[in-house]
Amino acid sequence: MSLTLENIECLFGNAGRRLYGGEAITQREHGLQAAWLAERDGADDALIAASLLHDLGHMLFEQADSALASGEDDLHQYRVLPFLRGLFPAAVVEPIGLHVEAKRYLCATEPGYLESLSEASVMSLALQGGSMDADMARQFAVRPYAAAAIALRRYDDQAKVVGLATPGLEHFMPRLRALAISVPV
Ligand SMILES: [Fe+2]
Repeated sequence: MSLTLENIECLFGNAGRRLYGGEAITQREHGLQAAWLAERDGADDALIAASLLHDLGHMLFEQADSALASGEDDLHQYRVLPFLRGLFPAAVVEPIGLHVEAKRYLCATEPGYLESLSEASVMSLALQGGSMDADMARQFAVRPYAAAAIALRRYDDQAKVVGLATPGLEHFMPRLRALAISVPV
C-alpha cells in the first residue's frame, strides 16, 4: 500500500496541477511553498518533508477538491497516512496526520490566529470540528509530534502566495531519499 518516491513525483507532476481547494494556487505550488518556508526557517529534514507532503491526500483522492464545496470533511490528513507509513519515519508521517488538529488547536489557544486564516481555511475549519475546547487543547499539546504539527501548520497557512517563486520538487527529492526507510524495488 505504500507509495514510492516515484509515485510522489508523479502525483506532484499530475494531480499537483489541480488548484488547492478554494485557493488561487495549485496543490504542487502549495506543497513547494510550505517546504520552502520550512527550509528557510531552519526546520529539520523531517519537518521540511512533512511540509512538502502534508496535503498529498488531496492529490491522491480526486474527490478532495469537491468535498469542501459540497460541505464534507475529506479527512485527507488521515487517508494519506497508510500510503506514507511504509516509506517515511514517524517524524515525517505523524505531523501530517495532525496538521488539521493543529489548526483547531491554534484557534483555541492563539489570539488572532483564526482571523489570520484564509477564507477557505475558515470554511474547512467548520467541517473539521471547529476550534478545540480547553480540554482537547491540553491533550493535543502533549501528544507526540504536536510541536512539529503546529510548526507545519504555520508553514501551511503561509504557503498560499500567488506567484511566489520556490525551488522545484527536484530540490527536495534528495531529502526524501535520505529519509525513506524502505525503497521498494
Ligand atoms: Fe495545506
